[in-house]
Amino acid sequence: MSLSVVILAAGQGTRMRSALPKVLHPVGGRPMLAHVIDAAAALTPQEIVVVHGHGGDAVREALGDHSARWVEQTEQLGTGHAAAQALEHIDDRQTVLVLCGDVPLIAPRTLGRLTDAAGPQSVGLLTVHLEDPTGYGRIVRDDAGEVRRIVEEKDATPVQRRITEIHTGMLAAPAGRLRRWVAGLDRANAQGEIYLTDVIASAVTEGWRVCTVVPGQRSEVMGVNDRVQLAEVERRYQYRQAEALMRDGVTLKDPYRFELRGTLEAGRDVVIDVGVVIEGRVRLGEGVVVGPYSVLRDTELGEGVRIEPHCLVDGARIGAASRIGPFARVRPGTALDRQVHIGNFVEIKQAEVGEGSKINHLSYVGDATVGKHVNIGAGTITCNYDGANKHRTVIGDAAFIGSDTQLVAPVSVGAGATIGAGSTITRDAPGGELTLSRVKQETRAGWQRPQKRDKGD
Ligand code: UD1
Ligand code: CA
Repeated sequence: MSLSVVILAAGQGTRMRSALPKVLHPVGGRPMLAHVIDAAAALTPQEIVVVHGHGGDAVREALGDHSARWVEQTEQLGTGHAAAQALEHIDDRQTVLVLCGDVPLIAPRTLGRLTDAAGPQSVGLLTVHLEDPTGYGRIVRDDAGEVRRIVEEKDATPVQRRITEIHTGMLAAPAGRLRRWVAGLDRANAQGEIYLTDVIASAVTEGWRVCTVVPGQRSEVMGVNDRVQLAEVERRYQYRQAEALMRDGVTLKDPYRFELRGTLEAGRDVVIDVGVVIEGRVRLGEGVVVGPYSVLRDTELGEGVRIEPHCLVDGARIGAASRIGPFARVRPGTALDRQVHIGNFVEIKQAEVGEGSKINHLSYVGDATVGKHVNIGAGTITCNYDGANKHRTVIGDAAFIGSDTQLVAPVSVGAGATIGAGSTITRDAPGGELTLSRVKQETRAGWQRPQKRDKGD
């Protein structure tokens, strides 16, 4: 039987106290719902149907490129009602796997086992034992240990509340039957909702078996109802990623103080210190060392690059053996060749810098092409913006730019040129020569500082 997946994601998420629909709150930098869709997609189903409600347009937009069918549930009458909306679009001969948009860590392997538990006479149910089952639907079994039904917390007797086996919200069943059972549901319960969980009793009445499956790890079924649970899920997710990286040979000085919100490819012997946040797509070459408290976003670092503490490196390509920071801001469009040094309090953007060049202190280099072995002195500024347009600065190989120079773009400095410290360069400076623009220094012999007047005067 081929498979279709239904993801229930129409709930209000009131306890998040948020303007953002719950399923769009990020885990590891991506909406929760995207994680669930990915897990579903890993089973290569015929179709994924997402039931959305609250903030539906925002949900669809945020997840636009995921191929799924979007079905709106205008009134949230319960999980059974939500499932019914989706089942309208699914062929009777398929197996249906029902997932929740707010349980983002579910693993494809567990879903595979759950799907396999559904058959021509059986329903698959994903359950788990919890020390504290409060809030969850309880699995009621008979003396022979067979599942009879699910009872929601609010409808449970005191004895049933003591059951520690709970329903994770996920189940699998043949579509045709499920549709029939769902159509027969009523709202005769404490919450006046249409409970999807009541289909279990219907199945049992018709002589079907309910086969329970337990998740590979308990964290897979952690749900998010409020921001405390969101943080718990995030921590769990982050640890999982950190663990995988460490097993792949990355040293994380502290896996509990490392955040990956995207994808990281790392060569051998990469060392990442505490408080590092990695976002988007990042590639680190062999032997890269990332110092404490840096953010790397959509960036590629060559072999042996060192990022000193407290840097933001965004949208950049950094050549092998280069050194960045501490306290550097590398902005999008930066491409550094090998062995470039970018030092403290330097901002650089839309700039190519050749091999071995140094911009070590307190500079702004924007919209620039810098040659090889150039030395840019402290406090150098490329004045790239005239208030309306951006202009380029071009600096030739082996040029030496004295400290506190302003390069008023568009302007170029030839290869091997020297610019005297404190210059404002408004016209092209020829290669191999010293150029400087400086007010002549004078000393006034015998000059006296003014004296403070007496109060009485
Ligand atoms: C549900 C189960 C409960 C289980 C728990 C696991 C029911 C009746 N109960 O309870 O047995 O232990 O999940 O987390 O199913 N949704 C809709 N439309 C609706 C209502 C809900 O799409 O009208 C979606 C929600 O967005 C959510 C999922 O269904 O993704 C579960 O709904 P929720 O209200 O959180 O159910 P629980 O009370 O947690
Ligand atoms: Ca829930």
